[in-house]
Amino acid sequence: MRRLALTLGLTCVATLRATAQSASTEGGPVRLGATSAFSAPAWAFPTALPAAPDPFPTADSTHQHRIPGAGRSFTQKQAFNRHAPIDWFPGSHPAAPRPVMLGRRPDAWACAFCHLPDGAGRPENAVLAGLPAEYIVRQVRAFRDETRRSANPVAPLTSMHRLAKLYTDGEVAEAAAYFARLQLTRRNRIVESDSVPRHHVAGVIYTRDGTGQEPIDGRLIEMPDDFERHELHDPTVRYTTWVPKGSLALGRRIVTQGPAGIATACATCHGPSLLGVGPVPPIAGRSPQYLLRQLISFRTGARADSASTPMLAVVRGMTLQHMVAAAAYVGSLEPR
Ligand code: HEC
Ligand code: HEC
Repeated sequence: MRRLALTLGLTCVATLRATAQSASTEGGPVRLGATSAFSAPAWAFPTALPAAPDPFPTADSTHQHRIPGAGRSFTQKQAFNRHAPIDWFPGSHPAAPRPVMLGRRPDAWACAFCHLPDGAGRPENAVLAGLPAEYIVRQVRAFRDETRRSANPVAPLTSMHRLAKLYTDGEVAEAAAYFARLQLTRRNRIVESDSVPRHHVAGVIYTRDGTGQEPIDGRLIEMPDDFERHELHDPTVRYTTWVPKGSLALGRRIVTQGPAGIATACATCHGPSLLGVGPVPPIAGRSPQYLLRQLISFRTGARADSASTPMLAVVRGMTLQHMVAAAAYVGSLEPR
């Protein structure tokens, strides 16, 4: 086994020399980064929220908003209600249990306030639809004991730590069983480009300034196609992710060949179409910004609960460019 790894390693070095000048999008082994120096880039963790937990005191409670395809209307204030999250499409999911739709007053907020009633989640939090129940329970426990942290612990990425300590094991188990039954629909589109529309952070996500472009500069920038619909917790709003040219091809190579050889090919553990196997979570078709944040957090060791050991080996040699590429490619796959 050791010998095999060594042989593969030597092959990589030899081939790398031959292809050192070739563009990163061409075939051949993926060049690994230095295993030590890595710092999490601030741009992967957008937030303009204050650390205090009540950022929405001025929400409008009069204007009735509508979204395409939904026969109901809600105010922005209702969209910010943590104990009665708005449900635009009640027919799109089974009846949800109490911890999901109501939570427990005063502080244990309903999961659906952030993760949405159908578990579609949002880039700043996480998809829960279709995650194994056992995995959901384990992650909430890891948030609770803070073995799962974020490489950049800005609001809102610390909210699960606070909440996980408030939810009872029974509430988490009920919510986990519910979300595990649901199916994810991909809502993102990937654009490879040298530039990205000018943008700024609004709340917890980037949104377009309205005019002009700026260089992509190695970043992965995900934005809702309609910021107002995102703010109204519309589970059908679509998101676009800009990444540098060549990212999808590079991502495909990393995913299929494995960043450190075939044993780290993502399908080895996440299943043939990255749809998950047993307690290993599905990753196909999820928000690229979420996926990137997780890869970065494994890489810095901030996410280091006991079950994450296999991932630490996977990301050890990955550069930021590799992670951006892998997140974009995995996010572009169909989740079912
Ligand atoms: C205030 C918003 C909020 C609420 C309410 C909330 N979460 Fe979260 N949750 C988050 C955020 C933000 C993340 C992403 C953390 C990160 O990226 O590190 C997250 C991540 C998760 C994850 C990790 C998913 C993965 O793929 O690893 C699980 C599991 C989870 N939440 C379960 C729950 C459950 C169950 C509830 C309700 C009992 C709940 N959450 C309520 C904000 C919330
Ligand atoms: C040796 C097994 C193994 C391989 C290979 C592997 N993973 Fe994982 N991965 C896991 C396990 C196990 C977890 C769950 C970790 C936990 O419970 O905290 C995970 C979690 C993740 C997560 C977090 C998912 C979430 O919902 O938060 C991402 C993202 C991820 N892997 C991406 C990848 C990518 C991309 C590759 C290929 C480059 C890959 N993984 C290869 C075992 C593996």
